[in-house]
Amino acid sequence: MWRDDTIDMYSRWLGLKQGMTVVDVGCGLGYLGWTYWKFFGKGGRYFGFDRSFSLLNEADSLSAQWSREGIASFQQGDAYELPYPDNFADWTMCQTLLMHLEFPEKALAEMVRVTRPGGLIMCNEPDNLSASTMVADFSENNVTDHDILRHHRVMMTWVRGRKKLGYGDYSIAVKIPMMMHDLGLINIDSRCNDTCNFVQPPYESPVEKYRIEMARKLIEDEDDPEDEKRRREEFKQFFLAGGGSLSSYYRHRKRADQLSEEYKEMHRENLEKGTWFRSWGASSFFCIKARKKASAWSVRAGKG
Ligand SMILES: C[S@@+](CC[C@H](N)C(=O)[O-])C[C@H]1O[C@@H](n2cnc3c(N)ncnc32)[C@H](O)[C@@H]1O
Repeated sequence: MWRDDTIDMYSRWLGLKQGMTVVDVGCGLGYLGWTYWKFFGKGGRYFGFDRSFSLLNEADSLSAQWSREGIASFQQGDAYELPYPDNFADWTMCQTLLMHLEFPEKALAEMVRVTRPGGLIMCNEPDNLSASTMVADFSENNVTDHDILRHHRVMMTWVRGRKKLGYGDYSIAVKIPMMMHDLGLINIDSRCNDTCNFVQPPYESPVEKYRIEMARKLIEDEDDPEDEKRRREEFKQFFLAGGGSLSSYYRHRKRADQLSEEYKEMHRENLEKGTWFRSWGASSFFCIKARKKASAWSVRAGKG
């Protein structure tokens, strides 16, 4: 998700210190914990929180490998009701959590509650809609401007429908600074991920290996047809809920399937020979930070 040198730079930008108490809401496998551990973990405490028991079990065993010189522990529950007391953490964070929630403001308010006055709140979330024209692999296909604009419009409708049905906002990143402002946070600032998506032979990095595997699956039609059917049904449901019409959905489907077949034909040979090189452009993934106002007492005492 993030490059190592970006994380180094962010650790300074965020003002991390060893020994911090950190809460990671929707922690999954604890990715943010192990990624930032070297900047706060000496004497630090990491509290991973998630609603999934199975992810938390795995996160707990993984943490034995990275949580030396500090404590990592995990707790299950709902992001709308965190089990930590008020003003508990120096740093409360989440990554790709708010984008899945029906009421992201409510979860963010909980994050603010458990953060101490003067403490840090960080949200890493995407703006997938802005990225939808950038990341689509249009190069070399017989794609017209009209296709690109239609694709973006379809995605806009899909994102609106997904949100309306309570599955969260795929473009939430750009709205978070205002949500933070409305919750009384200060020093709001934001950066955008600098990673571009591409693969090149000999596909050495783990990300490239993953991408090449996905491309092979796509080109060889290895996806489970039932999964594919389910995905299409869901796509249609969100699109219609977002105000799209059935006829425009079928027009989109027909053209997308046609482009997909052309794509497979065009890339099969290079993929088989190991000479496949692709560039998808940038993702639109943000790191947004803010501080909880210090109380009058802690400002006076020089702790703000
Ligand atoms: C896309 S994953 C991100 C995991 C992790 N933050 C990362 O970046 O690798 C989203 C996580 O949020 C959790 N989640 C979703 N809704 C939640 C809720 N209402 N309360 C707590 N966790 C939730 C999911 O179980 C999942 O682990």
